[in-house]
Amino acid sequence: MNVHIFDSKEQASKAGAILFAAQLMDDPESVLGFATGSTPLGLYAELVRLNQEGIISFQEATTFNLDEYVGLEREHKESYHYFMHENLFSFLDIDEERVHVPDGMAVDPESEAVWYEDMIDEAGGIDIQLLGIGINGHIGFNEPSNVFSQATHAVELTESTIEANARFFNDKSEVPRQALTMGIGTIMGAMKIVLVAFGANKAEAVKAMIDGPVDPQCPASILQLHDDVTVLLDQEAASLLLE
Ligand code: PGA
Repeated sequence: MNVHIFDSKEQASKAGAILFAAQLMDDPESVLGFATGSTPLGLYAELVRLNQEGIISFQEATTFNLDEYVGLEREHKESYHYFMHENLFSFLDIDEERVHVPDGMAVDPESEAVWYEDMIDEAGGIDIQLLGIGINGHIGFNEPSNVFSQATHAVELTESTIEANARFFNDKSEVPRQALTMGIGTIMGAMKIVLVAFGANKAEAVKAMIDGPVDPQCPASILQLHDDVTVLLDQEAASLLLE
């Protein structure tokens, strides 16, 4: 793992955007994997700026998002579909036909998962995947478990994730209990992975990911086995690494 520790999350976000911009300059038809959550917001703002200044173009790019809640309409303000359009896609010169977010309203989430995985394969796989990390070490919605998941699948969210995401809803009871997520196998299939983490509440998960054993109880620890992972941290998220 290639770990970079920055003075601020703003710097780390810019560094992440540079990696995505370089990928697009190298291959304008790249397949980009995106993530939601508060962590990527600065990186997305930077990609919007680079696009609007004419430095990079998304016209030929294809995108796949990591995950989506089951049971939220696309128009729901907390759906990841809505989030991506509000924070990134609506500001880019991207072709909506090539934007993919799992359909959380699919009648049969398991079939949707299989279809989503097939679409990623048909696109030739993901060239560069953005990840955040949960305080429990999850990536996407791959929660701590006894095994590493493989392909895109439907999951039950853990209490820790429901608690962490309740801040976005009026009440914890409104947080969906299920989600669709790329599997660990899907994520590991990406050519390059960029993981960003900010803040002291991520420090333990970051330490377990980098210094701990490869263990499905910390799903992100599998990234130790990928040969092109860049981890971008602020001082707080890196604080336990420095001990
Ligand atoms: P956050 O979520 O960016 O909102 O902290 C990250 C995650 O849970 O993967």
